[in-house]
Amino acid sequence: MNWEEFLAPYAQVVEELKVKLKGMRKQFVHESRHSPIEFITARVKPIPSILEKAERRQVPLTNIAEEIQDIAGIRVVCQFVDDIYTVVNMLQSRSDFTIISEKDYINEKKRSGYRSYHMTIQYPVETIHGRKLVLAELQIRTLAMNFWATNEHSLNYKYEGRIPVEIEKRLQLAAEAAFNLDEEMSKIKNEIQEANRMFHRL
Ligand code: GTP
Ligand code: MG
Repeated sequence: MNWEEFLAPYAQVVEELKVKLKGMRKQFVHESRHSPIEFITARVKPIPSILEKAERRQVPLTNIAEEIQDIAGIRVVCQFVDDIYTVVNMLQSRSDFTIISEKDYINEKKRSGYRSYHMTIQYPVETIHGRKLVLAELQIRTLAMNFWATNEHSLNYKYEGRIPVEIEKRLQLAAEAAFNLDEEMSKIKNEIQEANRMFHRL
């Protein structure tokens, strides 16, 4: 397995999507409109994580490009819940990639309390050997959802996926609190946006 060669197109996709999504944000800011995108993070899955996932799912190394769909991962973080759907609609109307699957873990949160909108896309990347279709995972979530998921992820890492029941319960409560925070912020969204506009005029 030549990892460098295998991962190169993924690194290319991650960089291209980062540029494109940041470009969307810039256009909103340039037009003095509320940007549904707050910030973008992106990564290529580290080799040990790819190997761990392949083993856990019993995926042979020859099939990882098809079966591990988050080797290229892009995260879009939004201020408000409805911004997520604005971003989703914009992504759905693009013609530079194909959406393979979508999962709305916002309207149907996971048992852990996890919420986010997921999209798996097939992205055509040009290599010196021609066009290659690469899978990438987009996660679209609010700041509150991101805060929760980041902390839960750290705990999962710490406890190697076996979070004690007590902490698991606390996390579920924290997820509910994050959900309520998103709801409350949505209710005062117009006020916040007006405040942001005033701030930017200064
Ligand atoms: P994996 O969970 O990665 O094995 O893939 P899957 O096919 O089950 O897809 P799913 O949509 O469930 O999860 C994909 C990604 O979403 C994960 O790799 C995480 O980044 C994120 N995710 C899903 N569930 C959780 C969760 O309970 N907590 C956190 N922090 N992240 C999650
Ligand atoms: Mg999963």
